[in-house]
Formats: sequence, structure tokens, C-alpha cells
Amino acid sequence: MKVLVVGSGGREHTLVWRLARCPSVTSVIAAPGNVGMSPDAELRAVAVDDLDGMVSLAREEEVDLVVVGPEIPLTLGLADRVREAGIPCFGPGAEGARLEGSKAWAKDLMSRAGIPTSGYRTFTDYGKAIAFLEKGEGPIVVKASGLAAGKGSIVCADRQEAKETVRAIMEEKRFGEAGDTVVIEEKLEGEEASILAITDGRVLLPLVASQDHKAVGEGDTGPNTGGMGAYAPAPVVTGELMVKVNTRVMQPLLDILTTDGIDYRGVIYAGLMIDDEGDPWVIEFNCRFGDPESQVVLPLVEGDLARALLDAANGDLDPAALSIAGGAAVCVVLASGGYPDSYEKGFPIHGLGQETARENLIVFHAGTAEREGDIVTAGGRVLGVTALGDDIASAVDLAYSGCAGIDFEGVYYRRDIAWRALARGSGN
Ligand code: AMP
Ligand code: GLY
Repeated sequence: MKVLVVGSGGREHTLVWRLARCPSVTSVIAAPGNVGMSPDAELRAVAVDDLDGMVSLAREEEVDLVVVGPEIPLTLGLADRVREAGIPCFGPGAEGARLEGSKAWAKDLMSRAGIPTSGYRTFTDYGKAIAFLEKGEGPIVVKASGLAAGKGSIVCADRQEAKETVRAIMEEKRFGEAGDTVVIEEKLEGEEASILAITDGRVLLPLVASQDHKAVGEGDTGPNTGGMGAYAPAPVVTGELMVKVNTRVMQPLLDILTTDGIDYRGVIYAGLMIDDEGDPWVIEFNCRFGDPESQVVLPLVEGDLARALLDAANGDLDPAALSIAGGAAVCVVLASGGYPDSYEKGFPIHGLGQETARENLIVFHAGTAEREGDIVTAGGRVLGVTALGDDIASAVDLAYSGCAGIDFEGVYYRRDIAWRALARGSGN
């Protein structure tokens, strides 16, 4: 089959890389894609939010499947448009994508479905939000309800900081209209994990659990980023916990979507907090594969992923279609100096290509571009250096030896990716 992958980041490079290795795939097109994908895909310069352009491309190329990477085109309804054109699409329609596009909607859905999540209130009125905060004390989390590139959730140490955050979001419009509605919720304690499940709207196929590193600094300090690295499997997610996630989170979510008449075909991403008792609480749902979680989850997936995504798109997924390889994967993100604040772009990247000679090392491109024959930096998160190993420790070693061979001006990366797993002393 011929597959069109929509997007241009590290997640989409991983999808392209993985799909191109499926027996059922004859060719892959990426739009707009990135230069790192060139060995595995033809690139087409169509922007992710150009729905007309994307549907025309899928039609002209007569693709058999469209796989949508990022949340923006999903919330805009790209999957609906592709399906209307008679082409199978892996990704929820605009209604289902509200799971990520409206935190207020997602919280209400969780509450109706009895899915464990923190207590919350939703406000569209600034004065009422402030009055609510004045009644309590202690830490609290303030969230812009709409899409804010992963930056719209602020964990506040006290009510004063929460009030200032509400003002920045609702009055100063720090996240534009994404902050017209705010969700104020209790702070959860524990260890985070990400679980991605593929669904055709009827059955669920959960993939291996992973852990992201959102903070920019070592020891999880400093401001949040899009994710500085990831590893899988995440030992905090035991087999017993995985059963709880399925019965308390994933299945009730799928059931309520079905009850509400939403035919959800794509990925359900559950961002979880695991408490001291080993119980899962949902921090958020996303409507797509995680980034950088994909970079560690997809290389561990065994089986014909493209066939499974096509079957999901057609409402005919076999929940046993894929399995997970033994061993582990670790991804270290190489970022531009200054990220997540302002940073410069356009620096030549040295040391690319070493991975082709090194088994189990893959360099996924996230923010790169080609300039006069050179590959240069073009984003905050530039590369995801990914390694496979028998266990987390050996994958960590290989990933960092890969990082050491790559250089560009101002390169920054965390040196402690997977520290929680290593601290448990579990090699795996
Ligand atoms: P989100 O944008 O909802 O993914 O949140 C970003 C990050 O903020 C999460 O990965 C958590 O680290 C933190 N966070 C969000 N909501 C909560 C919460 N209710 N309790 C504790 N931490 C939270
Ligand atoms: N890694 C966080 C996300 O994909 O939203």
C-alpha cells in the first residue's frame, strides 16, 4: 500500500521509518515531512493545516491510507475530510479530537465515564475563577482549555501564583483564544507514564508504556518543553497496572465515546499519574501518538504496523495484530541552545550518518532543514537520538554514545534520560 504521513516532526519521522519497514507498504509520502525522512519517503510541501491541499494530495497520489501525526490537523477535521474523500484515515475526526482540543470537554467526559482524574472546575468568567481560587489554599493546576503546544498547563505552588496564571491566560491572553476557558484542577502526586492505544472505535490495542521527560533540566527541573527524551518500557507500569489502565481508563473512555456516537479511529494517548498505591489517574488525553514517546514505542512494535493502522481506519482492527519486542528503547532529544525560550536556527549539524553503520542506533529528525547541501537546525527540538538495547541501561549507553558523535552550535541535551528507571535498579 501507499501511505501518506501528515506532519514534519520527530514523531512523524518515526512513523515514516517504521511504516516503510512494513511488508504491506510499497511507498511512503510525507507532507510536509523533514529532510531526515528522505531515505524512506517522498516529501511534498503541503502544510499540516492546509486541509484542501492535503486532501488533494491524497487523491492525486491515490494513497491507500493517510496517517495524521499532529493534533492541529485532527482538531481542524482533516480526518473527516479525508474519509469524506473515500480514503481510509488513521486519526479521529474533529469530534473525537476534542479529547485533546478541549480540556474542559475531556474532563467532563471523564467525569461522566467515572474515569479517575483530579477534581476540577471549568471557568469562562475571569472573576469567578479568581473568586474560586480565593476560597482555597495549597498547590493547584491551571490549564488553558484549548491547544497551546503543550505549554498550556501550569502547576502552581500556591493560590497567588494560580491567580497570576489565570490572569495571564484569561486577561492577557497568553495562549490566545485557547485560554477563553480555563480548567482549574487539583494537583496529583506520583510518577507519570504515557500509554498509547490504537483503536478502531470498537477494540483497543495498547502499546508498550513509556515515560517522557517534559522539564528542560536534569532532575526534572526548569520549564516544561515538548519533551526532552523518553524510554520504554516504563517499569512503573507493571502488568497489574496495565490491567487497571485498561479497565478503569481506556475501556470506559471508548464506551462513552461510542455512547455519544463518536466513531474514534486512531490513537488514544493517556497521560497518567501513578500514585503510591499503584493506581492510575488521568492527567490528560491526547488524540495522537506522543512525541517523543513514539520514538521509543514504535521501534519496539513488532508486526505489520501499516496493516494494523489501515484496519483501524477501516473499523476492523484485530487487537492481537501487533506485539512488543523484548528489550528497551531510549530517545535523547538534542535541542537548540535556549529552548524552550528563544533560540537561533540555521546552524550546520555535524556527525549525522554515523548511525547507518551502528546497529540499534537511529537518529530521528525533528527540527532540521536542508540548506545548500548542509543539514541545519530549524527548530527547538532538533534530533531524537534513539537506541535499542537488551535493557534500559544498555540503550541509555548507546543513545549517549550516539549523542556524543553529533554536534551543532549551542547543542543542549539532558544527560539523565531514563533516570527514574535506572534509579529503580531494574535493568529493564
Ligand atoms: P498537560 O498539558 O495536561 O499534559 O500537562 C503538562 C504537565 O503538567 C504534565 O505532564 C504534568 O507534569 C503536569 N500536570 C498537569 N496536570 C497535572 C495535575 N493535575 N497534577 C499534577 N501535575 C499535572
Ligand atoms: N510527549 C508529550 C506529548 O506528546 O504530548
